[in-house]
Amino acid sequence: MAPAVPALPVRRDLRAAPFLRAARGERPSRIPVWFMRQAGRSLPEYRALRAGHDMLAACLTPDLACEITLQPVRRHGVDAAILFSDIVVPLYAAGVGVRIVPGTGPVVAEPIRTLDDVERLPPLHPEQVAPVTETVGLLLRELGETPLIGFAGAPFTLASYLVEGGPSRNHERTKALMYSAPDVWHALMARLADLTGTFLQAQVAAGVDAVQLFDSWAGALSERDYREYVLPHSTRVLRGLDGPGVPRIHFGVGTGELLAAMAEAGADVVGVDWRVPLDEAARRTGGTHPLQGNLDPAVLFADRASVEAQARRIADEGRSAPGHVFNLGHGVLPETDPDVLTRLVELVHTLRP
Ligand code: CP3
Repeated sequence: MAPAVPALPVRRDLRAAPFLRAARGERPSRIPVWFMRQAGRSLPEYRALRAGHDMLAACLTPDLACEITLQPVRRHGVDAAILFSDIVVPLYAAGVGVRIVPGTGPVVAEPIRTLDDVERLPPLHPEQVAPVTETVGLLLRELGETPLIGFAGAPFTLASYLVEGGPSRNHERTKALMYSAPDVWHALMARLADLTGTFLQAQVAAGVDAVQLFDSWAGALSERDYREYVLPHSTRVLRGLDGPGVPRIHFGVGTGELLAAMAEAGADVVGVDWRVPLDEAARRTGGTHPLQGNLDPAVLFADRASVEAQARRIADEGRSAPGHVFNLGHGVLPETDPDVLTRLVELVHTLRP
């Protein structure tokens, strides 16, 4: 077999990209905007492409993952693409028995509850996520000057799925392990920090322009518990990316009480959900971090004038942070009218940064 011809590096000039400028705390020419879960069920072209493909298989099929990532960029004209993947992809790639059940979310075959279980958790080798890094390579060729965001789930959010065995409202088994067996807890979190770090470093090496660490469920914790049981591990993940200089976004839901602690973990940008206004979030994070957020995804179901008024308010409040990346306060809801998203992008681009 002929040796594979190494692909030529893709030359892109992203110095003026509004998303990257805002993430560095500069005032770009316009307010950049992208949406968490911009690729997904709100788009008919996504539903058509996904038909007949299992979610995790789709994430690990480079042509498909590339096309799904591009769909919202073409349709809405957002200022960044986010890699189409899922937080459980590195677990699956490492050999953990996990599936994504439609309408439910990730389900784990053998939940982790003991030190033996933790020790059986396999490490991730970068070559196991080759389909993901290949997808990044395809995207860099297609995206031109639109930055690409890579991502991973943070150790706590992954631990919750692994310990509970699936999605959980109260995270009771997770918290029980944390309090009853702190040594087992920290061993689990250390392994997940390694896995997440390996996954993000592979994406950065493949050329993503920024990363987002999703600690979606960290808001279930008090600040004291967050600092003791979670922050050291998330810090290790984010600090592991100190070198390459790609902006790191750190996001969770219901994390109003944790914003200062999450900012300390080593992120460049703090993602904020809709519960805390951005000017207050800037105060809570000491005014040092650019912020990302924070339109309530449910507002997109309101009348046009209300969506516009709320978007203008968020742009105004965002001016009190050193940089502002407009986003929703959590992911696009599947029933969202995609035309409302397109109009929102147009509106945000007319607002003064
Ligand atoms: O556009 C993007 O933002 C990139 C795509 C993305 C997906 N998952 C695709 C996906 C991202 C960033 C994620 C991260 C993710 N996955 C998180 C963190 C972000 C958050 O929402 O807080 C979490 C907690 C998960 C776990 C997960 N995966 C859930 C809860 C679900 C939904 C299950 C359901 O059917 O309601 C998934 C599946 C999933 N991941 C879908 C998509 C588009 C839906 C799959 C489908 O189309 O059937």
